[in-house]
Amino acid sequence: MSALLENRIALVTGGAGRLGRATAELFLGEGAAVAVADIDTARVKAVAEDLSATHAGRVHAISGDQSKKEDANRFVSEAETALGLPDILVNAHGIFPNCPMLDVTVEEWDSVFAVNTRGTMLTCQAIARRWIDAGTRGAIVNISSGAARSGRPGGAHYSGSKAAVEILTNIFATELGQHGIRVNAIAPGLVLDEVMHETSEDAHPYVNLTLEATPMGRTGAAADIAEAAVFLASNRSDWTTGAILEVTGGTHCGRTHMPFTRQLR
Ligand SMILES: NC(=O)c1ccc[n+]([C@@H]2O[C@H](COP(=O)([O-])OP(=O)(O)OC[C@H]3O[C@@H](n4cnc5c(N)ncnc54)[C@H](O)[C@@H]3O)[C@@H](O)[C@H]2O)c1
Repeated sequence: MSALLENRIALVTGGAGRLGRATAELFLGEGAAVAVADIDTARVKAVAEDLSATHAGRVHAISGDQSKKEDANRFVSEAETALGLPDILVNAHGIFPNCPMLDVTVEEWDSVFAVNTRGTMLTCQAIARRWIDAGTRGAIVNISSGAARSGRPGGAHYSGSKAAVEILTNIFATELGQHGIRVNAIAPGLVLDEVMHETSEDAHPYVNLTLEATPMGRTGAAADIAEAAVFLASNRSDWTTGAILEVTGGTHCGRTHMPFTRQLR
């Protein structure tokens, strides 16, 4: 079977992070060339060096702050210069602070929306303009969060920024479909560096409670999200646009911890 992303070129933002790196790695394995962009210059260079060891000539590192228009534009132009015009964009950058709504400051609120929402909009805008000029039928995959539609204490700014990412995914799909451009999002559940199957006293209560509420009985792996990104970037999803794909092990589909009610009177 041929690789799903043969001859494709991807720009993956947040490429130094957990999900961005895993996505870049899987895309390379599926035949794509990948530009990884991130605000963390040292880590994004290290990731590119690591990935280049097995995929020489197909990886490029870009450093910059995606919440700034000039940097978001440069992510696209630098990727094009290094590897050719990307025809896939994955927005996997993000910040996720937690703060009670009574305490959140205007500065913290604005920074979460600037990075998560404006940053996503800016790279989508930069690449869509370039695709329309070049006649490229590209695919955008935005990483949202299960938190976009499921509130939890301390997450007002984060959930709000990701809910905004989901509606802009829908809207961009309506505007760009006429150019053959698809825009989808993935809403991941809890993904840690290591997959956890069991609750434990050492784990953060948030992790334990999430495990109890997840029908598939484990936390996610970065590769779970990357597999979904491959599908949404590849022509296997040629008729899929404006979709929000939940990859959560079922965490948000109901009250998994409730018992059967057969004996209830
Ligand atoms: N890990 C999870 O459980 C989970 C669950 C749901 C959603 N998500 C979302 O997935 C995305 C990736 O999460 P992760 O777990 O890989 O986190 P991570 O912290 O490992 O990676 C995020 C990356 O984004 C980069 N970044 C932050 N601000 C930036 C900016 N202004 N410009 C460019 N890059 C910037 C960081 O340097 C980091 O490398 C985030 O948007 C996050 O909200 C993660």
